[in-house]
Parts: sequence; C-alpha cells; structure tokens
Amino acid sequence: MELRLTTWQEVAGAIREMAVRGAPAIGVAAAYGMALAAVRSHAGSVEVLREDVARAGAGLAAARPTAVNLPWAVARMTEEAAAAHAGPAALREALRAKAEAIHADEVERCERIGEHGAGLLRAGAQVLTHCNAGALATGGFGTALGVIRAAHRRGPGLHVWVDETRPLLQGARLTAWELRQEDIAATLVTDSTAAWLMAERKVDAIVTGADRIARNGDTANKIGTYGLAVLARAHGLPFYVAAPTSTIDPAIERGRDIPIEHRRPEEVGAGAAAGVGVYNPAFDVTPAEYVSAIVTEHGVHRPPYLFS
Ligand code: MRU
Repeated sequence: MELRLTTWQEVAGAIREMAVRGAPAIGVAAAYGMALAAVRSHAGSVEVLREDVARAGAGLAAARPTAVNLPWAVARMTEEAAAAHAGPAALREALRAKAEAIHADEVERCERIGEHGAGLLRAGAQVLTHCNAGALATGGFGTALGVIRAAHRRGPGLHVWVDETRPLLQGARLTAWELRQEDIAATLVTDSTAAWLMAERKVDAIVTGADRIARNGDTANKIGTYGLAVLARAHGLPFYVAAPTSTIDPAIERGRDIPIEHRRPEEVGAGAAAGVGVYNPAFDVTPAEYVSAIVTEHGVHRPPYLFS
C-alpha cells in the first residue's frame, strides 16, 4: 500500500501508527518529514524557517521512543538547518537534499552490512529471524534480511525460519512476503516454536535487527528477541545482530537505560477482549553477553563491544 503524506504531522502519525516502521525506515521518514515541514512553511527568513523545522523535528522525534535512528536523523537534519544558507529557498533545498542523502546512506549501509554478514552463514544454512528487518524496515535491502539476502546470493539453498512475531505479526506479514519476493526458502513458525526448533537441531544461526544498541553492545529489538538469544546460548548456537551505526547510541552506556515503548492493550487482541490487564512492551533488551557478533556497515564486531 502507498501512503501520500503531505505534512510533517502526517509523517509523525504514520510513524506512530506504524504505517512506516523499522528503526532505519522511521529515521529516513523523519528526515523527509522535516524536509516537508520546510517546504510547507511560509517563513520568509532563514531564522523563522529554522524554528518551523525545529518544531517538526521535535514532533517527529516524539513519535516513537525506542529506535534511536529517529532522533539520530532529526539531529542530522537539525545540523543541516543550522548551517549557513543564502536564504529560505536555499535552506529548503538543502534539507531536501539532506533527507535524500540520509535515505541513500541507509540503503548503502545495509548493502555493506549484507556483504560483511554473509560470511557468517554457510551455504544451505538454517537461519531463524524475528520481526522484520528487511527492505520494508530500512528504506532498502535490509539489515538482518540484508545479511540473509547476501548469503543467499553467495550460496543458495539457505532456508529461513520466520518467527510470526507477536503481537503485530511483522514476521508473518512482512518478512515472509519479502523472502518470497527474493525466492528464498522460508517457513513461518509461531514465536513459541523457536525453542523446539533449536532442540531438534533445525537451526544453525539466529539473525535479528536492532532498534538501539548501547555502547556496551546491549541491544534493544522487537519483543521476543531476548528469549531467542537465551535459547541460542542454551543450544550452543550463534546469535547475530545486524544494524547500521545509526542504530548505535553513544549516549547510552548499557541496555537498562534504553527507553522501551509500551503499546496499546488492543494490540494484544485476546487479552483485551477477555477484560484482563495487558502488558505490551514492544521491545526487549538482549544483554551483550548473549550476542555472538554485531554486524554494521564497518564489519563484524565481536565481544567485548566498546562502541563510541
Ligand atoms: O515494527 P517495529 O518498528 O515496532 O519494530 C522495529 C523493528 O523493525 C524490529 O525490531 C527490527 O528487528 C529492527 S529494525 C530493522
């Protein structure tokens, strides 16, 4: 489905309601939202235009709390707005160009993540992934799915176990669709099947994306990821995280400081219908000690992780 968004408020709404979702993709969308705010502003001076753009940036950054790519992109656009520009028209043009550059960079980062990460998966590997960290989540190519796509190109025969990803089913709806487009063999499983799959020796590696990585490598990702990492350790399997450096938050030392988004009870349909309380965190944090490697556009990083 295509959405035509004509104001930054509509872009923020699309991020909030997850019409646009996935950490890198919401960063890219926020950058375009700020460029849109500049185009729509009637400001006649650079100073007033900067204020309008800053207002949009604050509104966009508040749309979702966990993925650091969102404030990261807003900060890049804010830097651009603060630079010297000849007049409002030049500033509008510079912001448009900056948003396009952020988008192009994210796609290129993903391609490099794929190149670096592909070697982690042997030909014919059985790979399990969670949520959707593909082209739909990143503006192009994908992070975890980028690794899988690149590995598949090098050595076909790879098979992907796709966690359905409760409660919003990003795996079932998005990852399954993307893998089909790429002609990569895939099988959908309920989230609770993962442990038994590993016990049956039907998984060789787990690859997920990330929404925010602390300096010590603790990683926030879609709820359910932490459980997979613990299961991987229990079964002696490698657990890999793939993410661009725009997902690393140098301001956060360790995972417990990562803000975790809690979403509406209605998203957990049955619980809400039964009239009981619902606890619906959208993300969890996997401690770095469970992460075998983090793949960024710079390469494959092994513990101890000391990101700066
Ligand atoms: O669907 P979201 O935006 O709530 O989920 C975020 C994600 O896409 C996943 O956590 C993903 O694994 C990392 S972002 C590529």
